[in-house]
Amino acid sequence: MRITMIGAGYVGLVSGACFADFGHHVTCVDHDARKIDDLCNARIPIFEPGLDQLVAANVRQNRLRFTTELKQAVAESDAVFIAVGTPSRRGDGYADLSYVYAAAKEIAAAIVGYTVVVTKSTVPVGTGDEVERIIRESRPDADVEVVSNPEFLREGAAIADFKRPDRIVVGTQDERAIAVMREIYRPLYLNQSPIVLSSRRTAELTKYAANAFLAVKITFINEIADLCERVGGDVQDVARGIGLDNRIGSKFLHPGPGYGGSCFPKDTLALVKTAQDAGSPLRIVETVVAANDQRKRAMARKVIEACGGTVRGRTIAVLGLTFKPNTDDMRDSPALAIITGLQDAGATVRAFDPEGMPNAKALMPDVDYVADPYSCADGADALVIVTEWDAFRALDLQAVKARLRSPVFVDLRNVYPPAEAERAGFSYTSIGRPGGEDKAGVRS
Ligand code: UDX
Repeated sequence: MRITMIGAGYVGLVSGACFADFGHHVTCVDHDARKIDDLCNARIPIFEPGLDQLVAANVRQNRLRFTTELKQAVAESDAVFIAVGTPSRRGDGYADLSYVYAAAKEIAAAIVGYTVVVTKSTVPVGTGDEVERIIRESRPDADVEVVSNPEFLREGAAIADFKRPDRIVVGTQDERAIAVMREIYRPLYLNQSPIVLSSRRTAELTKYAANAFLAVKITFINEIADLCERVGGDVQDVARGIGLDNRIGSKFLHPGPGYGGSCFPKDTLALVKTAQDAGSPLRIVETVVAANDQRKRAMARKVIEACGGTVRGRTIAVLGLTFKPNTDDMRDSPALAIITGLQDAGATVRAFDPEGMPNAKALMPDVDYVADPYSCADGADALVIVTEWDAFRALDLQAVKARLRSPVFVDLRNVYPPAEAERAGFSYTSIGRPGGEDKAGVRS
């Protein structure tokens, strides 16, 4: 198949490279000439494990190319994917669809022969109808079908998620379009990844419902963690105890400082707006959005409490800045709210992150960035893990403690067993867990 991918951002680049790897001929188009120039010179603008090799291999095989010229690519394609950004509109939380509609107009002008136009960007229900209207208005002659095919990639695991998806959601009732989509995803179909066929509107909603449900799950376990702290339970045991129930499932039950990233915060907000406008409010999701926002700020207070009630004039060492490990993405990262909260309370913040520091510097220039976890701890009054990078999982706790001015350790991702941290001499605080003394009063 010949495919055009419009938008060489996170979703477009990963999807384009994976489709090329399936054997299709893919052209990634982006208006950003610098980005295209970088890609043509094998410079990948985002950090995603394995993506550079995948892109390089498929460029070498002449199955993947990058250009700013949309017209010819679209004219030659069987399928054109729209994978442009749908950011939260400033001020009101609605998804900004201007890039999607602009792409639809450009595609309309370029279509030759039967073409399937596929929306991969996360778009509110009904956007596919509008994309179709735009195309038909300017090209009533065009032989085109507009399909919804949302992606469920996680940053940091995007290639594996693309190649081994739990399911592929395809929203169209047109038999010809279904045949094209089946052909595009054939290698996965052979691996028995189920294709869920539905109407276009249903597919659009499925994507938002999936993200909102996962956000609910995370927020639920975060609140159970808070309750554990109040009443003396261990949230890790609760998560295991409920997660082994197949009806609940063990994934996305890790308590932490609140969810962030490019999807959950934006998509939950957009879904809330859609539901309110439709007169069918999603009260659970509304509450989750508010609880998660408050949680990020509350984490700064947790650190301040662990420091004895004040951080004025103190130095706090922060390990991990990105919203999750294996990405350089700082969008809506809890670290932003936590660090701002600590600075507002009079602390100086020193930080280390394996990949996120260049992006973090642009957002938080007044943080002292250092080259490794140990120099981060040097002379600091407390150490805080905000993101669970592998590099922080096996720290030499004695060496860290020796560098700190006082042995205060706040682990917002429950990376360390409390008993281990306490044995190393730390005053250790984590999320929803008692100290190293277990329920029977026996030190583990
Ligand atoms: C998410 C969805 O998982 C993916 O299907 C969708 O396509 C895009 O949004 P992503 O944002 O890359 O992917 O990251 P994800 O791994 O889902 O984590 C999102 C946030 O939730 C992170 O801040 C993470 O730390 C947090 N999280 C996740 C938890 O706090 N606990 C968990 O158990 C899982």
